[in-house]
Amino acid sequence: MRRVVASEVLSPTRLRLLLGKRTEEADNLVHYVYSQCTSGSVVDVRVAVRQYSGNVIRKMMFNKRYLGKGRKDGGPGVEEEEYVDALFTVLSYLYVFCISDYMPSLRRFDLNGHEKIVKEATRIVNKYHDPIIDERIREWKEGKKEAQDLLDILISVKDSDGKPLLSTEEIKAQVADLIYAAVDNPSNAVEWALAEMINQPEMLCKATEEIDKVVGKERLVQESDTPQLNYIKACAREAFRLHPIAPFNLPHVSNADTMVAGYFIPKGSHVILSRIGLGRNPKVWDDPLKFKPERHLKDPSVEVKLVEPELRFISFSTGRRGCMGAALGSAMTVMLLARLLQGFNWGVTLGESKIELSESKTDLFLAKPLLANAKQRLELDVYPIH
Ligand code: HEM
Repeated sequence: MRRVVASEVLSPTRLRLLLGKRTEEADNLVHYVYSQCTSGSVVDVRVAVRQYSGNVIRKMMFNKRYLGKGRKDGGPGVEEEEYVDALFTVLSYLYVFCISDYMPSLRRFDLNGHEKIVKEATRIVNKYHDPIIDERIREWKEGKKEAQDLLDILISVKDSDGKPLLSTEEIKAQVADLIYAAVDNPSNAVEWALAEMINQPEMLCKATEEIDKVVGKERLVQESDTPQLNYIKACAREAFRLHPIAPFNLPHVSNADTMVAGYFIPKGSHVILSRIGLGRNPKVWDDPLKFKPERHLKDPSVEVKLVEPELRFISFSTGRRGCMGAALGSAMTVMLLARLLQGFNWGVTLGESKIELSESKTDLFLAKPLLANAKQRLELDVYPIH
């Protein structure tokens, strides 16, 4: 499955072919935030960034933004809100400790009640996915020939005998997996980055100066600009270092005895890397709890990237089970942050002096969704509001 996804679904060529769909969603993000800021100026950034991530991957997967009637201002309807909430519910249980993972005989008792919650959230996700997938499989059976999105690719990929490679069940599982994998990281990193930057406004200035220099104010940032947006990428990278989505990486199991960094790891061990332990390690990072994008800009001749193959912190991890969506995830994250910064002047809401940067007690998200004041920054005709 990993080979199919790498070569057919997330290959550089496929990502290039689907650029137009991602750009439509980056435009929709600016449209939505613009509508929010003209109708009262306080923006719920969490809603905007989560919906953007959901929209990008849905547009690439199903060629669809809306699951229901949709909204004229580009914002989420009740269906998208329900859907994205369900995705985040499932994701929040992905890393949770569960005794039956270690004592499978206890599984049927659902002692922590996790199974019930995750089943309900999965039911909601499937309620939206299944009819789209079933209908599309029918279209291919009836002669559809041209692939227009990732779902078409998953349905039409063939084995060496020219038969469909994936069963309906495998297609449904793969669609859900890719959607889960795409939504949480870009949105969490950008919500934190913006919150940190609003509290240090000189960073907002530096970031917009960079965008104005590279892109100008007459057009919106495009993915092709991002190689030159090193400061913006340093801000996103810093958010991944300091504010990972979860305290640990996904669990791995060692398939042989091995030594890593002087430690003996016996075959069969569950290996759980601490993302906080790495990213906030004072032996590696000066002043580790401070949000300082400059630390990623030491050599001006090197293009900043969000990947960290040396694992001084974990963004996409590395190796054979490393993230397969690093290129897409980087593009989504950088475009999201760059568009928000280019399109709007950001500040605290009326009556506040700082954004409260505390972590939630149950996970590493900002404790309270980021509410911020946004003001139009560009001439009206640059905004895609038609
Ligand atoms: C900023 C965005 C993203 C970040 C930071 C990120 C990070 C990660 C991390 C840390 C892992 C676990 C690696 C390990 O276990 O060692 C992972 C796995 C994975 N990611 Fe991503 N990811 C991002 C976006 C995406 C996107 C957009 C996709 C595809 C749509 C994707 C697809 C996957 C897949 C399929 C795996 C599982 C690989 C395997 O187990 O073999 N990711 N990702």
